[in-house]
Amino acid sequence: MYYSQEVVDEVLRGNDIVDVISSHVHLQKRGANYQGLCPFHNEKTPSFNVSPSRQIFKCFGCGVGGNAITFLMKYDNIGFQEALQQLADRAGVKLPVQDYSEKAKKRQEEREQLLQVNKEAATYYYRLLRSARGRKGMEYLTGRALSAQTMQKFGLGYADGRGSDLTRMLKEKGYSDEVILKAGLAAFDEKRGIHDKFWNRVMFPIQDMGGRVIGFGGRVMGDAKPKYLNSPETPVFDKSRNLYGLNMAKRTKKPYFILCEGYMDVIAMHQAGFTEAIASLGTAFTQQQALLIRRFVKNVLLAYDSDGAGVQAALRNIKIIRGTGLNGRVIDLRPYKDPDEFMKALGSEDFQKRIDHAENGFFYEIRQLEGNYQMEDPAQRTEFSHEIAKRLCDFTDEIERNNYLREMARKYFIEEEALKKAVATYGRAGAGTPEGMPETPARPSGRSGDKKDRKTAAGASDLRSQRLLLTWLIDDPGLFGQIREYFSPLDFEEGLYRQAAEALWERLEKGEDKDPAMMAASLIGSFESPEDQEGAAALFSERVPDDPNPGKTLMEVMTSVKRGTVARLVRGEGSGDAALTIFREKKKQEKLPGVNIHLSSPG
Ligand code: GTP
Ligand code: MN
Repeated sequence: MYYSQEVVDEVLRGNDIVDVISSHVHLQKRGANYQGLCPFHNEKTPSFNVSPSRQIFKCFGCGVGGNAITFLMKYDNIGFQEALQQLADRAGVKLPVQDYSEKAKKRQEEREQLLQVNKEAATYYYRLLRSARGRKGMEYLTGRALSAQTMQKFGLGYADGRGSDLTRMLKEKGYSDEVILKAGLAAFDEKRGIHDKFWNRVMFPIQDMGGRVIGFGGRVMGDAKPKYLNSPETPVFDKSRNLYGLNMAKRTKKPYFILCEGYMDVIAMHQAGFTEAIASLGTAFTQQQALLIRRFVKNVLLAYDSDGAGVQAALRNIKIIRGTGLNGRVIDLRPYKDPDEFMKALGSEDFQKRIDHAENGFFYEIRQLEGNYQMEDPAQRTEFSHEIAKRLCDFTDEIERNNYLREMARKYFIEEEALKKAVATYGRAGAGTPEGMPETPARPSGRSGDKKDRKTAAGASDLRSQRLLLTWLIDDPGLFGQIREYFSPLDFEEGLYRQAAEALWERLEKGEDKDPAMMAASLIGSFESPEDQEGAAALFSERVPDDPNPGKTLMEVMTSVKRGTVARLVRGEGSGDAALTIFREKKKQEKLPGVNIHLSSPG
């Protein structure tokens, strides 16, 4: 059953979120919002917020958020349909009986075909590895100390250098060229026609949480480049939402997962008994992956390469991890390069010790930061201390912040009172994190690309400006007409931010702003997975500052968003006709200060 957006919106409109949540959580009015103790995590001071004007909820303690439907789904642990039905009954809305659209049905059929063809291919590669033709692959994997049992557990296989046997076999079984190509198992060119894509590689099938094969990674058996060839993204293979090894790691009894960089690391870890190991899929780690992890555990230990790239990736991902309310720590593998090497050299007992001594994520960040300063120079030392103060502001929970503050003061010999004062100053300058609605860092999802996209995403303050602009437009849709010639969804960070902006633009362009109170809740409803709904709720929960001169603040926000766009383009992260685009966007940026903005009543 598939319900249209209109139906979902109607149900949402019929249920005031404050009423819905009040029957489960004791709420108290605070300013324009309601607050209570979060039903989704243990807390003693309320950080669970419900916004009647946006019809959404958001917990600033654990990060959970969404609309009325999301709330019921989580609270009663039920599916979307069931929650929708309950709310429809509650509001007296009749749900349409059969409205399974043609499009949705087609999509479903395609997904099933892709899964099937992947399964066939996995079986083919698996058998080939264990046949006479697979000797080279078997020697390679055995040489890397993998047991037959491990190879079997991960379904490892082999694609040899001969012809296009896989494609031929699949066609004989009745799969169309289109499906085989779409799955990324074959490629096409004029000379060879349709032919096998994976060639002379050991094959790592990539499974989703339910153990279904959704794609492949193929590794060369030597030093040739590229080292890994991965399946492209397909309707069943979304690299930003799956994790290698999760189908097994999800059964761990441990309270944490170990996040590694490579497939081989995960496999070596599992073989050594650490079945809680997972890895991202040849692309940068994303917010959606963090939210996925959070369904199972609250802690993530990073076991990243100990080289420079590994440290950069760890720093980036610690932020994403913290931004979703997970607790992140970092395992020190030195002097070994990665978990695979470590395990071979020292074994699992020593690895367990490294787990036990994993470093707190914040401490790790600050320790890495320390390397950029000459601590014996008082000027640099001062700068370093101020940087610590700035970063401490990210902790919205006062108790937590004070705990870190005390530890930082002790560790780096900073006078505690002075550090406290600096934090207070920066906290205020950060503006707009007053009572009730502290800032939650919703992190970018930085999708796409291979290893090279490890470069850092937009800074926290850029993202905050983007969130503010989105929220502002939702609260005051009249603004849209005034700024639309200067902004588009492309001004927002790729991933969740971009998607949310696109959905918002679409609605505002259609003039669907009659009911601004519904906009946020409805936009959240347009995201499919609960993880994304939660991420979207975080985007729309930024507090629009009620300062005496909101126009000025808005101008600052817009300028900052546009500055980010231009910077991104200059760094070459945009696509297409770069020079011209940069020119155009710069022009827009220059014109911004001249825009005359009329805001409707603030708040
Ligand atoms: P080994 O080098 O065999 O130990 O493999 P590894 O899995 O440890 O790989 P490594 O640490 O070099 O890289 C980590 C992950 O990045 C890999 O598992 C792949 O997912 C991805 N990766 C590495 N090299 C490439 C490449 O050339 N292309 C693509 N698409 N992904 C790569
Ligand atoms: Mn490796």
